Amino acid sequence: MARPRPNYVCANCGAASSKWQGRCDACGEWNTLSEEAPAAAPVALRAARGNPVELLPLSGETAELPRTLSGIAELDRVLGGGFVPGSAILVGGDPGIGKSTMLIQAAAALACAGRRVVYVSGEESIGQIRLRAERLGLSAAPVLLAAETRVEDILATLQSGPPADFVVLDSIQTLWTDLVESAPGTVTQVRTSAQALIRYAKASGAAVVLVGHVTKEGQIAGPRVVEHMVDAVTMFEGDAGQHFRVLRAIKNRFGPASEIGVFEMTDAGLKEVANPSLLFIGERDRTSPGAAVFAGIEGTRPLLVEVQALVSESALGTPRRAVVGWDPSRLAMILAVLETRCGMRFGTHDVYLNVAGGLRLAEPAADLAVGAALISSRAGVATPPESVYFGEVGLSGSVRPVAQTAMRLNEAERLGFSLAVLPSGSREGVRSTLSLNEVTTLADVVAAIAAESAAQGIGKPS
Ligand code: TYD
Ligand code: MG
Repeated sequence: MARPRPNYVCANCGAASSKWQGRCDACGEWNTLSEEAPAAAPVALRAARGNPVELLPLSGETAELPRTLSGIAELDRVLGGGFVPGSAILVGGDPGIGKSTMLIQAAAALACAGRRVVYVSGEESIGQIRLRAERLGLSAAPVLLAAETRVEDILATLQSGPPADFVVLDSIQTLWTDLVESAPGTVTQVRTSAQALIRYAKASGAAVVLVGHVTKEGQIAGPRVVEHMVDAVTMFEGDAGQHFRVLRAIKNRFGPASEIGVFEMTDAGLKEVANPSLLFIGERDRTSPGAAVFAGIEGTRPLLVEVQALVSESALGTPRRAVVGWDPSRLAMILAVLETRCGMRFGTHDVYLNVAGGLRLAEPAADLAVGAALISSRAGVATPPESVYFGEVGLSGSVRPVAQTAMRLNEAERLGFSLAVLPSGSREGVRSTLSLNEVTTLADVVAAIAAESAAQGIGKPS
């Protein structure tokens, strides 16, 4: 009999290939293909006759989704109002960011509320989990623990007792199943194990949380396929050097995606931050040039964030551009617009851009705040005190309106700001006690900051 041909699977996107290649044809990543055991022989076609299913109209009675609140409000918010029984959730994030900490806290809260909670760790021993729980003051919570990695054993355990309400599997990369031969952590193993656990969630009605590590490119390691299989994907973000953490929904079949929850890592575990704007603008220096406060929207709530820019004379032939928390190509675009439409020169300057607090901004509305921070640093003039910025900048230098003006202004008002610089036409139908400076082009912002320079009595912008 012919030996079954090996199969090569990309660890990044999960695409299969019949021969080894340095670069995956599907996603273009290098050195991600590895050999995996061939898939099981297809079921004989004649055995696979299907039964017709009833076709239904789009309208009809639907029950409200039941929800289980974890009691951690920021987590419940990210999930769209708590855990949905029978759903599978993937929690991703860099190692050490706080995934296990958050999940043991959620598990303890649910267990204390009378739910049956099973926490399975493939990474830590029972002793380590107990030590952590003790540090967090959660030892009394009736969470059921197991240190196990074989999927068949985990499923047998879950099916043997009373039905569980909430199951945590930490992490999906450590699990393995007898169904496939490849090593734990390979795409086939992760996919097959995840499939079995998701099937268990649907069949039993338990909410199942799978923890996944993230590659340095920010993808949930290897199995992007798992992202497609689960009902919700949340990512833990944050800087290891900082103590706040942002949990972001990037997919949610039961609620809004792009919702965020903000936590602070303390000695006693993760604490919710109920007023995140204060956190992200709290320590700002109001008088130095190069900072602008962006009135943003994250998910369904407003969030004020400080954008910091440093433009300095470069000693290098090719000046540096370094960005933390924003899209580098968007920075290049704003710089090009400032050069071409506003006559500001950056060609001999290094440009550093940083979003305070380790937050990542994805909203195009941040363009105007970034522009203002760059202009302010280049000109050596601080932006007007207590001002916020929002608006999208086009290649022509025009400033375009963005959604949710009222919500942004309310948040700024609530936190004591007095001026908003915003796209023209935004004030229609909006009531605010802030003074509103409507701008049509980025050049208007340059002019406003130059005027500020006169007001502050410092040197002219160069
Ligand atoms: P952990 O939850 O183990 O991260 P992950 O599961 O995502 O890999 O978090 C570990 C980090 O959190 C570790 O560096 C120590 C820190 N930490 C605290 O600062 N306070 C605490 O109360 C706990 C439990 C952890
Ligand atoms: Mg962990």
